[in-house]
Amino acid sequence: MAKTLQWGGRFTEEPDAALVAFGSSLDDDLVLASFDVRTSQAHVSALATGKIIDATTERALRKALAQVKDEIDAGDFAAFARAGVEDIHGAIDARVRELCPNGEGEWLHAGRSRNDQVATTLLLYGRARAEEGQAAALEVVRELTERAKEELGAGTLLCATTHWQPAQPALLAFWLIAAAEGFARAAKRFSVARDATRESCPLGSGAVAGSTLPLDRETPARELGFAAPSRNAMDAIGNRDAILDVAHAFVRAAIDASRIAAELVIWCTPAFGYANLGDAASTGSSLMPQKRNPDPFELVRATAAELTGTYAGALATLCGLPLSYHRDLQQTKRLAIATIEHGHATLRAFARALAGVQFDRDRMNALAADGYAVATDIADALILSGISARRAHEMVGRAVARAEREHRPLCEEDLHELASEAGVRTLDAPLDARSSVNAKCTIGSTSPTEVRKSLSSLAIERSHLSSLSIERNPGLSSRASARKSAHDVEGSASRHMRE
Ligand code: ARG
Repeated sequence: MAKTLQWGGRFTEEPDAALVAFGSSLDDDLVLASFDVRTSQAHVSALATGKIIDATTERALRKALAQVKDEIDAGDFAAFARAGVEDIHGAIDARVRELCPNGEGEWLHAGRSRNDQVATTLLLYGRARAEEGQAAALEVVRELTERAKEELGAGTLLCATTHWQPAQPALLAFWLIAAAEGFARAAKRFSVARDATRESCPLGSGAVAGSTLPLDRETPARELGFAAPSRNAMDAIGNRDAILDVAHAFVRAAIDASRIAAELVIWCTPAFGYANLGDAASTGSSLMPQKRNPDPFELVRATAAELTGTYAGALATLCGLPLSYHRDLQQTKRLAIATIEHGHATLRAFARALAGVQFDRDRMNALAADGYAVATDIADALILSGISARRAHEMVGRAVARAEREHRPLCEEDLHELASEAGVRTLDAPLDARSSVNAKCTIGSTSPTEVRKSLSSLAIERSHLSSLSIERNPGLSSRASARKSAHDVEGSASRHMRE
């Protein structure tokens, strides 16, 4: 029977190579390799503390696993994990058997099934990616808030739209913060998803009902940074909730990115002329020499749509799936990994492209009050002078229609007429975009004071979220987490100094 497979004793015929190839998930789960090694190392602890293996076997297994880890880090393992192996989990087991001189490798799988191995490995992988997703989301928040600070300083205006039609004057900084808010929520979603991957450790659940071997379940759970061993083996091996939570966080963040990307694609058109995507992020045309295309943003837009489909596919594999392990879960794994990997790449690409956007302040300022965008403020002024909301709306609507017929903006003359119609001496209402913005007085509005406030509260939230990712990550090796903490602290300290 093929040596690479982990079963075969009960069969007399060789497996059909085409069906083995059809059933292999190796191309999709190679990305799990280093996480699987950690799962295997923790299982060695379970075997050793449970006195199922002796010290010599433990040493040999640990040495072989360390070598596999080196091969993975050096990029050599993919060559070993070749056709005939069902998945990365089997590939690592096969390599350990090959590396152990006296058959110690035959002990690695004692009491373990790929069912608890896959479930545990997926959680470790999901936890690491959730961490990276959170960092990527926070990087977008950082970029957007830095830009908001610059544009607030420059006082850049923007005609805020609804339905893409001119609505009300706003600050460009206000728009940038609106964009950042979504990514702050995304960062929180990553943090919650990461916590879900730490709750309970499936390792030691075996195939479905636990083991008659005295496996230590506490030590591996602790070693791998889980809060506790899982409570129910049947649930533990078939549960994919946490990895789907991580995938969901990536899809949602990609959707957030796609909305901003779609708007920037329009802003970069000459007709709008609000923004220009720098050379490094733009692409040209093979035929039209003048072209400057915002491809990264278009790809972000399309990838978010693709990921939504992939994620829906992952959910669909679970519909009607009975409890316990079924091979269908291999497809859930494949689709969840695809969602996470592409989601991660999308977020990072989005952050890079975003950094290349330059705004045309003059153009934005010039158009900020276009399309009678101050009309609402004029209606508000009428309301403050005692006119009912309905009537004020009607009166200003008529003034707009008049101005539109005469191809001119609303002017002082219109305010005089509205005042006399309302029976008041004067109407104190803004006619230009800057006065409109400055006159806003509600919490969360586009007034410079409110924008400044929301910027500083967002900065506090961002540093809180970055600190969460350090504190709550006992799953990282202590060296890696020390490195990471130092990096984050340095980063947030220098950010604080700039703020
Ligand atoms: N390739 C499978 C997966 O990735 C491994 C689990 C196989 N378990 C089994 N009982 N056939 O999900």
